[in-house]
Parts: sequence; C-alpha cells; structure tokens
Amino acid sequence: CCVLGKKSYFAAAVCIMTVTSMLAVSYLKLQSLSHQPKVIQEGRRCRGKIAISTITALEGNKTFIISPYFDDRESKVTRLIGIVHHEDVKQLYCWFCCQANGKIYVSKAKIDVHSDRFGFPYGAADIVCLEPKNCDPTHVSIHQSPHGNIDQLPRFEIKNRKPETFSVDFTVCISAMFGNYNNVLQFIQSMEMYKILGVQKVVIYKNNCSHLMEKVLKFYIEEGTVEVIPWPINSHLRVSSAWHFMQDGTHIGYYGQITALNDCIYRNMERSKFVVLNDADEIILPLKHPDWKTMMNSLQEQNPGTSVFLFENHIFPETISSQTFNISSWNAVPGVNILQHVYREPDRKNVMNPRKMIVDPRKVIQTSVHSVLRAYGKSVYVPMDVALIYHCRKGLQGNLPRESLIRDTTLWKYNSSLIMNVNKVLSQTMLQTQN
Ligand SMILES: *[C@@H]1O[C@H](CO)[C@@H](O)[C@H](O)[C@H]1NC(C)=O
Ligand SMILES: *[C@@H]1O[C@H](CO)[C@@H](O)[C@H](O)[C@H]1NC(C)=O
Ligand SMILES: *[C@@H]1O[C@H](CO)[C@@H](O)[C@H](O)[C@H]1NC(C)=O
Ligand SMILES: *[C@@H]1O[C@H](CO)[C@@H](O)[C@H](O)[C@H]1NC(C)=O
Repeated sequence: CCVLGKKSYFAAAVCIMTVTSMLAVSYLKLQSLSHQPKVIQEGRRCRGKIAISTITALEGNKTFIISPYFDDRESKVTRLIGIVHHEDVKQLYCWFCCQANGKIYVSKAKIDVHSDRFGFPYGAADIVCLEPKNCDPTHVSIHQSPHGNIDQLPRFEIKNRKPETFSVDFTVCISAMFGNYNNVLQFIQSMEMYKILGVQKVVIYKNNCSHLMEKVLKFYIEEGTVEVIPWPINSHLRVSSAWHFMQDGTHIGYYGQITALNDCIYRNMERSKFVVLNDADEIILPLKHPDWKTMMNSLQEQNPGTSVFLFENHIFPETISSQTFNISSWNAVPGVNILQHVYREPDRKNVMNPRKMIVDPRKVIQTSVHSVLRAYGKSVYVPMDVALIYHCRKGLQGNLPRESLIRDTTLWKYNSSLIMNVNKVLSQTMLQTQN
C-alpha cells in the first residue's frame, strides 16, 4: 500500500504542476491578448465631442486626462498623460475610432502611476494603450469599461502623430504659476536671461497670477516667446502648495507640478531639441560658455549617450542686497531685482543641493522634478565649474549674514544686455497699464 501511495502522490503532484503551469501560460497569453486592440463596432463615424480643456475629468472624478501623445519608441502606442487616484482607478480602456475604415477598436490600458507621488492620493500617471495596427487614429476616448456608447465620451486629439523637424533649440517649462503670482520684475529678468542664453520658447502652466502679470504674459505671447497652458487644477482637486503630503485632506502635491512637467516634455518632444525644467526664479548660468547652445554642444560631446543633464541649485537670498544696479525706474515694479542679489549660500555638509535639468525630450519616458524616473539615455551631473543654477528667493539657511555668504557676480556678466532688454519690456507693458 505504501508503494502505491507514493506513486499516486507523485502522479498527483505532477498533475497539479502541469495544470498550474498550463493555467499560468494561458493567463499570461490572455493578459497580453487583453491589451491588444479589438474591433467592437463597424460602419461607424466618429462623433464624440472633442475635449478642449487642458484638464478633463472622466466620470467619477478619479481620472483626469491632460493629453494623449503618440509614442512609437518601443511599440505603437498612445500614451495619455493624466492624473489618477492611485488606488481607485483599476481599469481603463482606450476607444480608438478609425475614420478611414469606420471601425471602433477598444484596447485595455496599462495604468502606470508615477512613483513620485509623495504620499498624496492622486498622482501623475501614464495611461498607455496599444494602437490598432492598420490605422493611425487621430483621436482617442477613455472609458472605465470596454462596453458602452462612444458617442457619449469626450474625444482627445492624439498629439505628436507626425514627426516634425525641430523649430527651436531650447524650450523652458515653468510648471504651475499660482497664488496670485506677482513677482513681475524677477519674471521679466528671468525671461530676458533665458532669451540671452538661447531660449526661443517658454511654456507656462498657469493656475493664476496678478493682473499686472497677465499684461506681461500677454506681451510675451504676442512676441512669440511664451505659450500659456491654462492649469485650473484646483477646480478639480484640492491642491497642496507643499510637495509632500501632510495629512491635511489635500489630493495632489504642488499644484500638480509633476503632471505639468511630464506633459511639457511630450508636448515639446517633436519641436524642441532640448527641454529645460526649472522654476521661474531659477536660471542656469554657464560659467565657461557664452550661452546654452555652446555649453550643451560641449557637454554632449563629452558625455556620449547622455540625455539628461543635471545642474546644481544655489540659493541667492533676496534679503541680502547690493547697491550696484539699484535702478530707480525699476523700483515701482513689483518683484525682486535679481541684479542686486549676488551673494549665495555656502554648501552644507550633509545636505545635497537639489538639481534641475536640461533633457533631450525624445529620450525621456517619465520625469520627476529633480531627476528623471525613466529614460533611454544616461543622466550626468554637470560640474559647478561648467554651470550653476542662480536661484534668488528667501534663504534656506536662515538669515545668514553677508559675511557667511559667497559673493558670486556671474550674473553681472550679462548686465548691459539684460538691463537694456528689461527696460524695453517695461516701457511696453507698464505704459499699457497707465492707459
Ligand atoms: C465631479 O466634480 C464635479 C465638479 O468638479 C461635480 O459637479 C460632480 O458632482 C463630481 N462628480 C462626482 C461623481 O463626484
Ligand atoms: C488666485 O488664487 C488666490 C489663492 O491662491 C486667490 O486668493 C485669488 O483670488 C485668485 N485670483 C484670481 C484672479 O483668480
Ligand atoms: C535703492 O535706492 C533707493 C534710493 O535711491 C533706496 O530707497 C532703496 O532702498 C534702494 N533699494 C535697494 C534694494 O537697495
Ligand atoms: C556690466 O557689463 C559690462 C559689459 O557688458 C562690463 O564691462 C561691466 O563690468 C559690467 N558691470 C559689472 C558691475 O560687472
């Protein structure tokens, strides 16, 4: 009996293992199959309303769509940049309506919530769907279910479908201008410095700002430098102005900054050689090169295969002023005159200076604020003797006296063209104010 028993145990074990592995294989097959687009309707026209807002809530307010982008770097997919509740959103489906053959395809999305959520319940997400092989859909709709009526769903235009040649070298992305932003003088100085350094485009995700600031933005939009993306995130979610969650009932960090930055990378992927991710009070100052173009040429030559360049942030406290460049006509303009702040805080022993980035947008998959999360190339730290970030704001090390700070007048190299350019902008924008 014992021999027989052993044999049947063995047979049972083999049998269980075989069935389990067969189930596993077919499960995996089903999994990958389930992401394949399937035709669900034929002989249809595409009729849903086309979404026009920057942030569109889906039914239930747990998923928000910013924009879909075509991405064929790995396989032919539509990647939607969005915001989702990290637990409540389990399934989403892309509905592709192919105008050419009248077919509607549905494919199950892979929902990839970015890892840098910092404890908030909502975070940036990539919603990625395989596209039908035999059609290049121009629009996509998103739904919790593979069933329903597509005519009721908003349609989003899929951007970046056609490869373009670069129209600009550098685009600066400024995420989330908010809180009645009124630092007008510093903003104009930053803009003029970016232009001096070689920037042709600045994209600003604007939540809100002062009336005067609106005038300045209007000037730069007409000039062709600025593109404003409306960012009414607080009409959908309770936003925090802190970057990490403080158990205060807010939904998302820092006005959804991370989502805006990711959108900005994809939005400029086809048109800009480089994308610069920094705040409006930060300027990457080259120390060996006259501008960013020559600096980046040299950095790329020295770092083959690198797509992300990280620059070290240095704080120039706005409380320590120098009398040089106290320009009387500027004193009536709200905001900081950066030319008067040329003392920077020293490095601290156990604190790393945060970094900001210049990236090749075509090599980035997901970005955070101070580093990329996923990219095709390498990242490199740019040494301090090549460039530093001039960041004029409230001090981070208390109110250190002038003697404890380091005098650094790199910015003054640009004084004459900066002053001339700022005066030009002020004369055009401030005169309009008096009317
Ligand atoms: C979604 O939010 C809108 C306002 O933004 C509100 O009117 C609506 O009731 C919300 N829907 C749900 C299901 O919570
Ligand atoms: C801008 O936002 C602030 C709060 O951050 C609010 O007090 C102010 O009314 C808003 N201004 C406009 C013009 O919406
Ligand atoms: C600039 O000069 C004016 C007088 O000419 C003075 O009142 C003001 O405090 C100075 N500002 C700074 C920041 O030094
Ligand atoms: C301002 O720039 C000019 C050249 O453009 C330079 O000669 C001058 O030294 C600069 N001023 C200061 C205070 O650095």
